[in-house]
Amino acid sequence: MNRRSFLSWGTAGMATLGSAMAVSFGAVVRFMTPSVFYEPPQTFKIGKPLDFAYGAPTFLADEKIYVFRDRDKGFSVASAVCTHLGCTVKFFTNDDQFHCPCHGSIFAESGKVVHGPAPRPLNWFEVTLARDGQLLVDKDKIVPASYRLMV
Ligand code: FES
Repeated sequence: MNRRSFLSWGTAGMATLGSAMAVSFGAVVRFMTPSVFYEPPQTFKIGKPLDFAYGAPTFLADEKIYVFRDRDKGFSVASAVCTHLGCTVKFFTNDDQFHCPCHGSIFAESGKVVHGPAPRPLNWFEVTLARDGQLLVDKDKIVPASYRLMV
């Protein structure tokens, strides 16, 4: 092997080693970066009581909740997430029931399962009045379906 050939092979070897180190460094950086799924906050304000009408519940798509306002009973907040596989249920005023479009589960207005395959009733979340007069929903606090906030 002459000097020119030796230098040529040496340069190629150094380039290969540099590439391998770059790929390894990228893998280490990727490994050190946490694979965390950031969820939206579970406690949030949804507006003032007067923003909600009596009668049919108000669906808040971003929060996946239904807000009920009853003249006598006050406010209650139901989850719009089906307890089967997590599809978003839709409330129908013609039968006052929640229907899941995915596999046909039906929930009564109280959230109880009327027709499966949903294994559990819909969740109800605590709703309170914040200092600024807005309704504050806490999805970490599951409450009985009978829970109401009188305002
Ligand atoms: S996700 Fe609702 S019935 Fe399956």
